[in-house]
Amino acid sequence: MTPRTAAAIPIARPQIGEEEKREVLDVLNSGALVAGRRVAAFEAAFAAYLGVPYAAATSSGTAALQVAMLALGIGPGDRVVTSPFSFAATSHAVIHAGAEPVFADVDPATCNLDPNAVEAVLRRGRVRAILAVHLYGLPADMLAFRQLADRYGVLLIEDAAQAHGASIAGQRVGTFGDAAIFSFYPTKNMTTGEGGMVTTANPDVTRRARLLVDPRGDEEYAYEVVGFNYRMTEMAAAIGLVQLRHLDERNEQRREYAARYSNAFADLSWLRTPTEPPGYRHVFHQYTMRVPRHRDAFSRHLTAAGVGNRIYYPRLIPQTPAYRRRGFGGAFPDAEQLTREVLSVPVHPGLSPGDVGAVIDAVRAFQGAGA
Ligand SMILES: Cc1ncc(COP(=O)(O)O)c(C=O)c1O
Repeated sequence: MTPRTAAAIPIARPQIGEEEKREVLDVLNSGALVAGRRVAAFEAAFAAYLGVPYAAATSSGTAALQVAMLALGIGPGDRVVTSPFSFAATSHAVIHAGAEPVFADVDPATCNLDPNAVEAVLRRGRVRAILAVHLYGLPADMLAFRQLADRYGVLLIEDAAQAHGASIAGQRVGTFGDAAIFSFYPTKNMTTGEGGMVTTANPDVTRRARLLVDPRGDEEYAYEVVGFNYRMTEMAAAIGLVQLRHLDERNEQRREYAARYSNAFADLSWLRTPTEPPGYRHVFHQYTMRVPRHRDAFSRHLTAAGVGNRIYYPRLIPQTPAYRRRGFGGAFPDAEQLTREVLSVPVHPGLSPGDVGAVIDAVRAFQGAGA
């Protein structure tokens, strides 16, 4: 990727403190660097935090997605309905499992997969799973997806890479599906450097996931599956244990900053602030506005004012070269409109209240909106 010039107020900044540094040093001094007691402790703590029986750590969110697909038995001949408006690791994992992603349009109010569009795909048949993404930290409509999954006899999988701690009516994401995945990439609401997690209530899925992550298995070198090496390191788990303890307070900080933005922008008719349906807890991995006109001029204005800003995502997965070559494409009018309108501004807990004020001032100072 092309290195970007650092903005005065960056779009993301991982929060790494003295505790994490001490814990990593302890691991290095211990000499036990991989898949040891800290990984086991992190898995147990993460599962307990969510309220789900099992969690299996991986080396990334992408690895967790691949492992979840295979552990659920998804493979050639299967179709998996998912969102075209996500980071491409979501649908890449379906392809890597030998199955076929089928893209359905999103609800423009939430930017998440639209249950009606998903049902239209389910009616056509041959679908094995729904793979819902909790984009920007806002839960997808899991109650509708659970009903659809039960009615059509398909699996439900959650891509919660951006939504640690988000919930619907108090139930945390990562507990609704037959399996779910998380990412601990540095920009996420909590990080381990690189890392991921598969969560599930199914002991067989957990066992298969663990074997795929570390194919040596319980009986050494008696390979039960054709697995990978997707193990989490002890250094990563040591960081994750500390980060998990701070997750709720940091999500609260994100929510507070998001509320300040939404209040400050309420009178600006040229932009739309993010929605949070009743009972949903949005954890604002991103604070993403919609700017129907002049989005790109607005982005340049913010950059000139030193405010980091990004478009997540400027194009739909099925319309990228890798997917077009495989025969994907299709029309997704609502998702396409979002690619032209969305813009995210910094909302992470590394911001000072003064930074938040500076973002508000920069947004409000945009003159091009009335043109
Ligand atoms: C929605 C989504 N899915 C999957 C991933 C993949 O996670 P990772 O970068 O840890 O491989 C990411 C993050 O980058 C993501 O945002």
